Amino acid sequence: MKFEITPGVDWVGKIDWELRKFHGEEYSTHRGSSYNAYLVRDEKTALIDTVWSPFAKEFVNNLDKEIDLNQIDYVIANHAEMDHSGALPLLMHRIPDKPVYCTANGLKSLKGHYHKDWNFQVVKTGDKLSLGKKELIFVEAMMLHWPDSMMEYLTGDAILFSNDAFGQHIATEHMFNDLVDQSELFEEATKYYANILTPFSPLVTKKINEVVAFNLPVNFICPSHGVIWRDNPLQIAQKYLQWAADYQENQISIIYDTMWDGTRMLAEHIARGIKQADDKVTVKLFNISRRDINDVVTEVFKSKAILLGSPTINKGILNAMSALIEMITGLKFKKKKAAAFGCYGWSGESVKILTDHLSKAGFEMIGDGFKAMWQPGDEALAQALAFGKDFAGKV
Ligand code: FEO
Repeated sequence: MKFEITPGVDWVGKIDWELRKFHGEEYSTHRGSSYNAYLVRDEKTALIDTVWSPFAKEFVNNLDKEIDLNQIDYVIANHAEMDHSGALPLLMHRIPDKPVYCTANGLKSLKGHYHKDWNFQVVKTGDKLSLGKKELIFVEAMMLHWPDSMMEYLTGDAILFSNDAFGQHIATEHMFNDLVDQSELFEEATKYYANILTPFSPLVTKKINEVVAFNLPVNFICPSHGVIWRDNPLQIAQKYLQWAADYQENQISIIYDTMWDGTRMLAEHIARGIKQADDKVTVKLFNISRRDINDVVTEVFKSKAILLGSPTINKGILNAMSALIEMITGLKFKKKKAAAFGCYGWSGESVKILTDHLSKAGFEMIGDGFKAMWQPGDEALAQALAFGKDFAGKV
């Protein structure tokens, strides 16, 4: 499959309808994904990125039907992660002398992955590559989201090839932003930002402002996953600026795990207390062992405050909660408030453990949390409700 974006620029990637887990098991992709590669033809021809390794043969075969591979003058490798560089070994086997353009960090990561001495051409921000009437201007995008990440701007057609930035994990036959369901598109774009780009938010702001300062027209933003932004393409850059500014909605998320329903009952009474204190705030409850962790992380991203709950087991917490804590610690959320709660039988360490983890993860803790011994009875549930009310009043 290929399609034209504008005369002289074609999408030549792969739509992966089956993908449900990405980065190993790290990221859920309920709607599949795509690996976007682009062919830019002028007097010279440039191939921008490739596809994930399992589709390398299919990609090179399709490309071979589209163009004599020897007619490709330049290969651009924006990022070494295998979902974009995975077909390079097979492609470069066919055209071993063609130059491969990448950043200085790209040179390290591509060599580190493939151990090949391809004809690497290292570029930096502002370097230009003439294709004839048009030229590609390279923009290093370090830590968006890898040290090697790079974008380029195509003059004439005014296209920003942004690699992972502005992407979404969506498989669709309608590969433009104006042709897909808008709520699904922004749900996936938000999840992508929350789970991948949150730790790099200060760099997102800096890079977008740097690109905007060039004052160049932008007709298309072509990311390496999901749909191409052609209808008001800068809307996604505006969204990124909002998301990078310690984004939060008027939402409190209560995330818990439970063994015999005691901690669930606390969660539900805390939620009731929050709503009694503030009927405007959105309160959402998630049993972390029954929910997709990346979807829950997205809800943390949207929240102004979270409550984590776990019963105590073996002087610790339940393992689904441990996985969530690991993830939200790495994502370095800022300006969010939090508290912990949980049931216990004879020792009761879970609330302190959760409180310590949340504090280390950068959350502003509201109190020492709430715990209830054995199965919560009427008195404990009333206390949980009061705890929720008090929490709502402090966030
Ligand atoms: Fe889509 Fe960082 O790879």
